[in-house]
Amino acid sequence: MDSDRQKIAVYPGTFDPLTNGHLSIIRRGLDVFDTIILAVAKDTPKQPMFSLEERVDMARSVLADKERVTVEAFSGLLVEYVQKRGARVVLRGLRAISDFEYEFQMSLMNRRLKRDVHTMFMMTDYKWLFTSSTIIKETVGAGGDVQGLVPEIVFEQLKRKMQS
Ligand code: COA
Repeated sequence: MDSDRQKIAVYPGTFDPLTNGHLSIIRRGLDVFDTIILAVAKDTPKQPMFSLEERVDMARSVLADKERVTVEAFSGLLVEYVQKRGARVVLRGLRAISDFEYEFQMSLMNRRLKRDVHTMFMMTDYKWLFTSSTIIKETVGAGGDVQGLVPEIVFEQLKRKMQS
């Protein structure tokens, strides 16, 4: 593997919305990779609260000060997108043990599809081990306060969504 290509990681997800847990992975990832491409999935079995454009825009605003991070939407097979971007690494975060089975399945499927695309896992900071986009949306929907669990820009967008 040539060393330049190893330094780009694609961090894929639905990011509906981006949370502080995701940011923790990006921060850690930047210690290892030169560039991280945050790849926001267009096709998802979930019913996102935010449109693809909103998810991308929010992530771009939050990450605007991180020069080595770019945010893009992607559709179709992740491994093909990774190769098109000249990367070989898929970055994923691990939280509690419950993530393991799903992540293992996904990384094995990706490996079957393209053997030279590798999945690397990083631990999410312990503060965010039990957060998820769904639990944050549920909490906001029920009138709970999620300030401090998501970036301020996301917090404002969540409030706006709830009022509309
Ligand atoms: N901190 C806090 N929460 C985190 C987290 C972290 N570090 N990492 C993940 N999560 C949460 C997310 O908020 C999300 O919560 P939700 O389920 O409540 O929305 C959940 O864990 C996992 O979501 P995410 O990381 O966004 O991944 P995903 O499972 O939604 O995305 C894709 C999966 C898009 C990467 C995958 O479906 C894909 O690659 N699709 C493309 C098609 C393809 O190639 N398929 C074949 C390969 S399997």
